[in-house]
Amino acid sequence: MINFEKFLKSHLITNPSFHPFFQQATNEMLLAGGKRFRPMLLLSIVRQYNSLLIDSAYYAALAIEMIHTYSLIHDDLPDMDDASLRRGHPTLHTTYDTPTAILVGDGLNTYAFYLLSISPLSSDTKIDLIKELGLAAGLEGMVLGQAIDIYFEDKELQLDEVEFMHIHKTAKLIAASLKMGAIIVNLPTAIQSQLYDFGIKLGLLFQVQDDILDVTLDESEAGKDTNADGDKNSFVKLLTLPKAVEYADRLASQLQSEFEQFDTQLQLALEEIIKTYLYRHKAML
Ligand code: IPE
Ligand code: IPE
Ligand code: MG
Ligand code: MG
Ligand code: MG
Repeated sequence: MINFEKFLKSHLITNPSFHPFFQQATNEMLLAGGKRFRPMLLLSIVRQYNSLLIDSAYYAALAIEMIHTYSLIHDDLPDMDDASLRRGHPTLHTTYDTPTAILVGDGLNTYAFYLLSISPLSSDTKIDLIKELGLAAGLEGMVLGQAIDIYFEDKELQLDEVEFMHIHKTAKLIAASLKMGAIIVNLPTAIQSQLYDFGIKLGLLFQVQDDILDVTLDESEAGKDTNADGDKNSFVKLLTLPKAVEYADRLASQLQSEFEQFDTQLQLALEEIIKTYLYRHKAML
């Protein structure tokens, strides 16, 4: 991921204007770090199947990270989750102001698609990537999930509805990250779909783990506000912590067996991610 960080740094927004801090605000949350989980998914596939395309794939990996970062900046806004800490730093609206945080999010959202459009990939590939990212991030994906999350605060949802919400707000972008890697290296559509379905389950697990860490980690460990999901339809609220952990265990072992049925090349591509993320909730307890 060292080269991804280099790519990110050299593709920060450098469009100076007489605004005193807009450019700085735009770059700040990207530079603050984060796990880079979604770029890692995409790049792992590309590295394994066609490492010659890795430099082109950085564009798509950064596009996804920009969308994800924008979603966090908006997620933290006072009228959303009203959070004060993100990636170990004060949230953007705390450092600057709410309009700046809204506009930085808007800017990262659109810049992601610009980046995809200028990536050194074939036009057909770029259109497929734009389609996947637009679908996963927008009205049928993350944005819909976030709308459900916010509207149903203080209103109880059923398990299948919470799964629907988590799949939309988090899992679709994670599934798209794997599929976009597969698109870049031109894997058969059957494998693309297999990876997408795997990514949906992996993304659901990722958000259940995130719900767990909200009650088990403190702010300094998480680098963000914790104990903040009290009014939310989190898995912990719905099931209690032990049952949420059991749910995560079950999902992780399902993913482990699916992973073991992948062919060798796909297993090699994903083994690091499986090792690091499948049971990450164990370290949160
Ligand atoms: C946090 O995502 C929000 C969720 C979708 C759970 P990450 O846990 O990937 O956040 P960063 O990128 O590491 O900061
Ligand atoms: C956010 O879920 C999912 C997004 C699409 C940003 P959370 O609200 O649980 O994420 P955190 O816990 O603030 O990182
Ligand atoms: Mg939220
Ligand atoms: Mg939040
Ligand atoms: Mg959370």
